Amino acid sequence: MILRIATCRPLPEPDADEDLLLEALQSAGIEAQMVSWHDPVEWQRPATTVIRSTWDYIHDLEAFTRWATAVAATSAMWNPLKIILGNLHKRYLIELAACGVPVTPTLLLERGKSADIYAQCAARGWRDVVIKPAVGAGSFETRRITATLADADAVCRRLLAERDVLVQPYLDSVEHHGERALVWIDGEFTHAVRKSPRFSGGVENVSDALPIAPAERAVGEAALAAVGALGEDLLYARVDVAKDAAGHPVVMELELVEPSLFFLQNPPALRRFVAGIARRFQR
Ligand SMILES: Nc1ncnc2c1ncn2[C@@H]1O[C@H](COP(=O)(O)OP(=O)(O)O)[C@@H](O)[C@H]1O
Ligand SMILES: [Mg+2]
Repeated sequence: MILRIATCRPLPEPDADEDLLLEALQSAGIEAQMVSWHDPVEWQRPATTVIRSTWDYIHDLEAFTRWATAVAATSAMWNPLKIILGNLHKRYLIELAACGVPVTPTLLLERGKSADIYAQCAARGWRDVVIKPAVGAGSFETRRITATLADADAVCRRLLAERDVLVQPYLDSVEHHGERALVWIDGEFTHAVRKSPRFSGGVENVSDALPIAPAERAVGEAALAAVGALGEDLLYARVDVAKDAAGHPVVMELELVEPSLFFLQNPPALRRFVAGIARRFQR
């Protein structure tokens, strides 16, 4: 059993899961190798693949899509390609909302198009907004604009020259309650952590595992059900949940490609992850 774990080198930030995962796989007798998705030689050989820390794909979505499609054509890939492709661009938030899943209110602006952000935000009653790339990770280019909507306009215009952009109202629950990152491993909810607010240039700050409210879990499950991910028997999934202005939980992010899974905070989740891989190898 040889498993290729897709990463990128250099990593934009350390991966707290990596060493824990490699150790656990080795203990289970699964030979695993970290391989950068940029490595042209390694990916010519078929081998079973799990995507974990390919975090720089946000700078070249087309190349990453081509890579993932080519790998999945010759090898097993967990999570499945269909799930990966549907989760790379955060337009999935709009699709989730259309399915009735509570999500952070989101305006999607397409690259290159001009948009009167001032008018669009004003029409929605948004004065304090967050602007971020629609293909993003690690809070890349993610900014809260509190000053004036004219400032938001300038920031959007600059980003829109290069990428699709999301505009959302700023949810101040991220400061007091924090975000909850809910983790599912091999189809089962395993644990959640609290994440502190993080904007462009900031570092990730997460808590120990902690209990979550049933309403937060229900939102996570609704998001997974909407993308068919509960039935798909996914190896891993993470749903980040915040609270809207009325205090109701909403999806901030659905992470099915390369989420940190906070194994350090919950060793049984790591064991379940490895067992899930072993079971898939036996199929
Ligand atoms: N609408 C928002 N309200 C408050 N904070 C936000 C909002 N959008 C993003 N943030 C902050 O920015 C972080 C990164 O945004 P997120 O949507 O999770 O993108 P990614 O993690 O892919 O970079 C969030 O974890 C949160 O701290
Ligand atoms: Mg996030």
